[in-house]
Amino acid sequence: MLFKLCSRILPLLPPATSHQLMISNLDWMTTMGWHKDCCHMPQEDPTVVMGIRFPNAVGLAAGMDVNADCVSAFGALGFGHIEVGPVCPTAQGIRTANDCVRIKPRQALVDATPSSSCGVEQTLRNLRSADCFHLRGGILGINIEKNSVTAVENCVNDYLFTFKQTYAKADYFCINLTSTEARTTHLLHSEAILTGLLSALRDERSRLISEHDQPYKPIAVKISPDLSDDQLLRLADTVLSLNMDGIVGTSASNDCSVIEGLSNDAGLLSGRPLSERTTHCVARLTEHLGSQLPVIASGGVMTPNDVVEKLQAGASLVQLYSGLVYQGPSLVAECVEAAAGWRREHAQI
Ligand SMILES: Cc1cc2nc3c(=O)[nH]c(=O)nc-3n(C[C@H](O)[C@H](O)[C@H](O)COP(=O)(O)O)c2cc1C
Repeated sequence: MLFKLCSRILPLLPPATSHQLMISNLDWMTTMGWHKDCCHMPQEDPTVVMGIRFPNAVGLAAGMDVNADCVSAFGALGFGHIEVGPVCPTAQGIRTANDCVRIKPRQALVDATPSSSCGVEQTLRNLRSADCFHLRGGILGINIEKNSVTAVENCVNDYLFTFKQTYAKADYFCINLTSTEARTTHLLHSEAILTGLLSALRDERSRLISEHDQPYKPIAVKISPDLSDDQLLRLADTVLSLNMDGIVGTSASNDCSVIEGLSNDAGLLSGRPLSERTTHCVARLTEHLGSQLPVIASGGVMTPNDVVEKLQAGASLVQLYSGLVYQGPSLVAECVEAAAGWRREHAQI
């Protein structure tokens, strides 16, 4: 009852306030079992992607559990994987009430600020919150980013630092090639920077495996929905040639002008308006890559039908963000069940 009430009240508060309230209370509420009023744990629907067994095809996208405060609590809502972060080397940014805006009639979110992070050290402490989730087979992704004070040209050390520090904790990594800070696909401005970064991560992974006996951890690259088809496919080839393991398509969009009254640079746009573009990107990528690299769909997954649409376009997994904000926690099990139904029908299991 109380959980249901909270799900009704939170959307009435400013997004950053409701986000903070949710993150501060989700853990104890799920420990008390109050979430069971409005959502249930879906049956497992295992799938192997990037060499990892995911308990189901639906995950939580980056930017929600930024500091890994309540991984197991989100897991209790039914997610098969949770991507925490962005994790930056040192703490930066504090969210305020006006940072993110809901455009309710369009089921959209516009985020206008650079990423916040409590830094690697604190995130590692918080990651104890993932133990219970891990124990029941949940998959932990770590989304890493540079600090906003670090120039793009010098970003490699920031990424490497976080990568090394968190390597033992992650099941997979995600590198977001779009930036809330510059509101631009900054790493793509220079193919040399992108290649330098991804090959440094690949080489560091080899070193951790050979010198420190660490297991192989897949690295996925998250791309912008604002790329032209040519740019998209060129980027896919680069990612493949650098031994990356997957593509997350897509992040939020720089193009807010699709919302009446918003200028292009109002922030980064997420939610329903992204859905068509994301499906297009997933379809182009999977056509182009075949079975060489899996694609994880993120962007505009607001209903179980959207999940089916992304799987039909070729996605191996899907992630939720705005859908959870607008539809509430019951969406998670509904999406897992829609994915399981679709996969059964298409004999992928
Ligand atoms: C407030 C906010 C912050 C976000 N921060 C990040 C981030 O730091 N790193 C990242 O890879 N994606 C970030 N995202 C993008 C989401 O992970 C997701 O890819 C995007 O919102 C599209 O999915 P949706 O339409 O389901 O919301 C953020 C999204 C929002 C709304």
